[in-house]
Amino acid sequence: MLIKGSVALVVGGGGGFGGATARRLARAGARIAVLDLDETKGAACAAEIGNGAVFVRTDVTDQESVIAAIARAETLGPLRIAVVAHGGGGGDGRVVHRDGAPHDFEAFRRVVDVFLNATFNVTRLAAAAIAGTEPLDGGERGVIINTASIAAFDGSVGQAAYAAAKAGIVGMTLPLARDLGPLGIRVMAIAPGVFLTGAYGTASPEDLQAHWSQAVPFPSRMGDPDEYAMLAQQICENPYLNGEVVRLDGALRFTKKGV
Ligand SMILES: NC(=O)c1ccc[n+]([C@@H]2O[C@H](COP(=O)([O-])OP(=O)(O)OC[C@H]3O[C@@H](n4cnc5c(N)ncnc54)[C@H](O)[C@@H]3O)[C@@H](O)[C@H]2O)c1
Repeated sequence: MLIKGSVALVVGGGGGFGGATARRLARAGARIAVLDLDETKGAACAAEIGNGAVFVRTDVTDQESVIAAIARAETLGPLRIAVVAHGGGGGDGRVVHRDGAPHDFEAFRRVVDVFLNATFNVTRLAAAAIAGTEPLDGGERGVIINTASIAAFDGSVGQAAYAAAKAGIVGMTLPLARDLGPLGIRVMAIAPGVFLTGAYGTASPEDLQAHWSQAVPFPSRMGDPDEYAMLAQQICENPYLNGEVVRLDGALRFTKKGV
């Protein structure tokens, strides 16, 4: 699909994957709307990109907030690309804690809400906007890229909520692509392994590399967010990629305890 001249909205654009993807798609000629809850990080990303990029403070768990953000993105031109890569954190824990207490149900719901429900919310609203654009050569109107995780396939101890949410993103990829195919909209998901982003909090990059790198068969290091962005760009450009989840993990498989 033609990236040049299209509008791309990037949810979580103030973060690792979203920021790298926003920058890469901008270099390929897209006009960028950076959507993020964090004003400082989101605005910094849009300012760095320049060239008319806008930042829209957005809470993806809130319908009205996403509707307003998409309307703002559409003022830049035809919306054709939506990349959903927001974080959310929290919710980890064993189903039965060491003290015998069951997993906090609200915490489970929150994780599913922020990762799965919010991803569907952006997908449905972005798809409706993309459906209103003129089709390009080949009948394509646009593409939606969601972010799963390898935890969807091999979640570790304490990851029931996160793994369930990410497995939901995996599971809806094909039916979404089938629903939206007649409208000329493709849907893909990327399932990353371990990447050096803000998702790992304040731990030092050296400590994180030391912890994770030996578990990754090759290349034995954490992923670079730009490697996610490279795949996102290829998904935009390659019209035959549709309805699939791509693991991006250097052949890493989580063990029961992660590594
Ligand atoms: N980093 C990894 O190793 C890794 C691996 C697998 C999957 N993922 C997934 O990739 C996605 C992006 O993660 P990242 O590593 O880039 O994290 P990150 O922390 O660098 O970026 C996440 C961004 O999302 C924003 N955000 C959080 N809640 C939001 C909300 N309600 N509305 C809008 N924006 C919100 C944050 O402000 C932040 O800028 C997450 O879904 C994460 O689960 C990450």
